[in-house]
Amino acid sequence: MIYLDHAATSFHKPPEVADAVYSALQGTGNSGRGEHSASLDASRLVYRTRKALSLLFNVEDPSRVVFTSNATESLNIAIQGLFKSGDHCITTALEHNSVLRPLYFMEKRGVHLTVVPADKKGCINTSDIEAEVREETKAVILTHASNVTGNVLDIETIGKICHQYNLLFILDASQTAGLLPIDMQEIGVSAICCSGHKSLLGPQGTGVLCLADGVQPFPLKLGGTGVDSYSHTMPQVLPTALEAGTLNTHGLAGLLAACDYLKTYGQLRILREATHLANLFANGIKDLPGVTLYGDMEAAVRIPVVALNLRCIDSGEIADELFQRFGIATRSGAHCAPGVHSTFGTVDQGMVRFSFSHFNTNHEVNEAIRALTILEEESR
Ligand code: ALA
Repeated sequence: MIYLDHAATSFHKPPEVADAVYSALQGTGNSGRGEHSASLDASRLVYRTRKALSLLFNVEDPSRVVFTSNATESLNIAIQGLFKSGDHCITTALEHNSVLRPLYFMEKRGVHLTVVPADKKGCINTSDIEAEVREETKAVILTHASNVTGNVLDIETIGKICHQYNLLFILDASQTAGLLPIDMQEIGVSAICCSGHKSLLGPQGTGVLCLADGVQPFPLKLGGTGVDSYSHTMPQVLPTALEAGTLNTHGLAGLLAACDYLKTYGQLRILREATHLANLFANGIKDLPGVTLYGDMEAAVRIPVVALNLRCIDSGEIADELFQRFGIATRSGAHCAPGVHSTFGTVDQGMVRFSFSHFNTNHEVNEAIRALTILEEESR
């Protein structure tokens, strides 16, 4: 199989990640639940993972790195745990349902929502965000990059807007963590939400929520924490306040190995290599007469994603042909991002998304170009 669906989950992981999970599975206790060496080793491992992520995102204090099961849980904690009836939140048309559905849920509980539209290339104009700020605005919540088109949002400017109007800035970094630099303190992000299994290259079942100083959502999950057992309420101290229940220590061992790999290999190098492959693919197919590409393909910074359609053929049909005849794995349909399809008029057709990793090869890209060229000729 030629796997070009890394935006859904990174398929090729550094071998160190699997080794670390395997080794943790062979003997790791429950972090914070004992004084024997197995439990203490688990606590040390979890702390080292927090520390590695705090360095990656420049979080002030590792204890403000909270572990969750995925980006969706991180976003739900941030969105459901920080707002109350009467608050106003600004988001964009590019969002994934992991942002939109919790926001729609909060809308039913009295939170006011503004969805800033994208232009015809799927870009968000930061002045359109600023224009929506009003007295009761509490937060801007948006993705760092579209999971469908690969367009990157200008988070530096958005951070400045949030600072100027004293707003919380909640960033969905699911598609960029590990690929693009994110400096929490420099940009002024209040909460970074991301999964461990995409471009961070860790295992599925790991999620991260980094919180700025002074930002503390109400927990969604209540339960055992290993401390304060006689209290009827959750401890207030982070990260424990938001980590009820046993952590996925085995997964976090893999995530730690992935962070070490990112540091050694170099995030910029990963981005450069994956972008080179995405550009090779885009340049190889962009002049095929039946192909429509979506997104701002000329942008200086993009994530390595190419979304397209072939004439008016259903995207699912093309993805099936690509996989069944050529062994090429892509993702089709709506990609859980409904606003992107309203923007481009592809609600019914969806899009075929090719997403690349630095582990892909020129040969694989050439095979994808060849396959799409054949399908395009056949569709005439
Ligand atoms: N959100 C993931 C994607 O874009 C699963 O495919």
